[in-house]
Amino acid sequence: MPEGNVVVVGAGVVGLTTAFTLASEGFDVSVIDPFPGRGASFVAAGMIAPLTEAVHGEESLTELCAQGAALWPSFAKRLSEYSELDCGLEQTGTLVVAADNNDREILRSRIPTPALGTLGATWATAAEVRALEPLLASSVRGGFLATSDFQVDNRRLLASLMRALSNLQVSVVQSKVLSILSDNNQVKGVVTEDGVHHASHVVLCPGYDVARIEGLPTADRPVIRPVKGQILRLFQHDPLLRLRRTVRAMIAGSSIYLVPRESGQFVIGATVEEQGTSRVPTGGAILALLRDACLTVPSVAEAELLETGTGLRPATIDNAPIIGPSLLGGLIYAVGHYRHGVLLGPITAQSIAEIVRTGEVPVSIAPFQPGRFQRNG
Ligand code: GLY
Repeated sequence: MPEGNVVVVGAGVVGLTTAFTLASEGFDVSVIDPFPGRGASFVAAGMIAPLTEAVHGEESLTELCAQGAALWPSFAKRLSEYSELDCGLEQTGTLVVAADNNDREILRSRIPTPALGTLGATWATAAEVRALEPLLASSVRGGFLATSDFQVDNRRLLASLMRALSNLQVSVVQSKVLSILSDNNQVKGVVTEDGVHHASHVVLCPGYDVARIEGLPTADRPVIRPVKGQILRLFQHDPLLRLRRTVRAMIAGSSIYLVPRESGQFVIGATVEEQGTSRVPTGGAILALLRDACLTVPSVAEAELLETGTGLRPATIDNAPIIGPSLLGGLIYAVGHYRHGVLLGPITAQSIAEIVRTGEVPVSIAPFQPGRFQRNG
């Protein structure tokens, strides 16, 4: 077993994936979270969307997302070997459609044709997208199939990670971390509501409120804000009315997605709201999600509504995560994954494991170092 022990603070998808990767490499790991697996990752749709959630001007993040997505198939396989559970990875692609001519122009401007070409995709007519997904509304005006973008069942993933950790004898402690324990600029552990946990390394991935933890260096304390996302979960009883793959629609200038699960359940998401820490589900958001989903796929109106959910995505100033070592020795950040927590879980975990093992920062995460906002004023 490698020397030292690691405490991972936060049991969302990033924390659990990191703990799993470290434990499977032989590290002595424990995880601390007051509500393991019940934060934003539980509400998420499980999107692995390096292309359809890419934003112009965020090229280094898009590159990281492409690398992160490429790791998913082998990660899912390795996880299932340790957990003996399938995490529900679906690689049937994402069908992106435009609700009308105006939305088609918006889509074309956001994802230019050359970018599609590099991914082996081409613009498809209305008839062609309907041949791929017969449940689409007759008003849909074409789109494209993004084979680069797929999904994992977030709740099966969380269950699989928890089972793998249990099989690897990793303890998951239900408590809240209050502060970092350090001496002589070196981490010694964490203080929780229930006591002290000593560690040679602490990996911080507790979500949007990381900065409340005392003892973080001012020069790299993460600046994170919560971005509210509301989603709906439904069940389609009739197998003939189930979507074949994830559908993402541009409709009246905004974007929604419908993510079908093998079971007949599907997720409609998601709002992107700057509402502080409010988790209140609102009638307006539910109305807009259902209206846009039904205009895209009319049979959604027949589905049973199971659940509304609200998550708080942890976002940084530049929308990219903070992954890397702190100025405080032994402290490592993995926070601010915003819309890409699931997608970037495996590449974050792999990078953290390399830092713990070698002390070196992998090239792929060099642009995402802690303290970059402080250094840039
Ligand atoms: N990545 C999905 C979302 O943030 O809504």
